[in-house]
Amino acid sequence: MIRSRIVGTGSYLPEKVLTNEELEKIVDTTDEWILTRTGIRERRITANGEASSTLATNAARRALDMAGVSPEELDIIVVGTVTPDMFFPSVGCLVQDALGAKKAVAFDLSAGCSGFVYGLSVADNFLKNGQYKKALVVGTENLSKVTDYQDRGTCVLLGDGSGAVVLVAEEGHQGILSTHLHSDGSYKDLLFQPGGGSRVPPTYESIDERLHYLKMDGNKLFKIAVKSLEDVVLEAIAHNNIKDSDIDLLIPHQANLRIIQAIAKRLNLPEEKVFVNIHKYGNTSSASIPIALDEANRAGRIQEDNLLLLNAFGAGLTWGSALVRW
Ligand code: COA
Repeated sequence: MIRSRIVGTGSYLPEKVLTNEELEKIVDTTDEWILTRTGIRERRITANGEASSTLATNAARRALDMAGVSPEELDIIVVGTVTPDMFFPSVGCLVQDALGAKKAVAFDLSAGCSGFVYGLSVADNFLKNGQYKKALVVGTENLSKVTDYQDRGTCVLLGDGSGAVVLVAEEGHQGILSTHLHSDGSYKDLLFQPGGGSRVPPTYESIDERLHYLKMDGNKLFKIAVKSLEDVVLEAIAHNNIKDSDIDLLIPHQANLRIIQAIAKRLNLPEEKVFVNIHKYGNTSSASIPIALDEANRAGRIQEDNLLLLNAFGAGLTWGSALVRW
């Protein structure tokens, strides 16, 4: 049976660190509030001119290096992002050009914080059906550029960064065992960027009204996130006929430490089986899972044949999972 195996991971975080203490000087908040409500201590912020494609290209190079795959060998590049450099061309095409991945088909997909898991699923299907052999999947975000630093309800949560994986189609028992994706557009108003698109094109008024910044109803999202993230984990467990205890490492979307802990508790997963790095980077949307995966991989937290479960949730709403035999 042909499966998509992850043969390289990479991540890239911008240099500038924005701490909770620095945010205390910008909005009415405290380090204590942020830490106890979210688990976040600091996040990374891009410099001016540093775009989502810049971060993505750096993360991709690291993943390709680890994989020993050259850009020319790539058949497909899928990029999950809600903060592209511009509406078009896609970040995928910009990354393709920067890498020199001449034969790869490249595109973006918009699935909020689930963008990486969606991308993994799309690439996996192309590899499994035999159309392509080598894929690059990236999650990349430059959220600081759409964050309202007058809105304490969102600006303390978000950060910038990028993560990538290289997949190859191989016969064997290792690789992506399943992906499950879900969407519910009826929750479109819980997390969105109202201005700047074709509905509310950028005008002086839309900028004055701060419509180009993302808006979020965190409280409502919190409850739906816990339920959806738990549901997709149970779905993956049932579909693959495994037990909670078979999971060696859960790599969840890093939106809020309390959400992660609630899911770990419901699944009876001990702390050491749940990867957490939200304290360093905040919520980096579609980049959070591939950054976490890369850190776990490079830290030696993943052994051959380990069973990894990735679960994501984000704007759309969207949610999904990927079960991977390493
Ligand atoms: N600093 C201090 N106080 C803050 C604050 C901040 N940064 N942000 C909000 N508050 C205040 C609120 O104004 C509110 O005050 P009030 O009670 O006087 O009205 C109080 O804290 C509680 O706000 P609430 O929104 O109920 O807090 P919460 O416990 O739900 O935590 C989030 C807020 C955003 C951290 C939490 O809801 C969350 O993480 N939600 C999920 C977000 C998410 O996953 N988003 C992305 C999906 S991928």
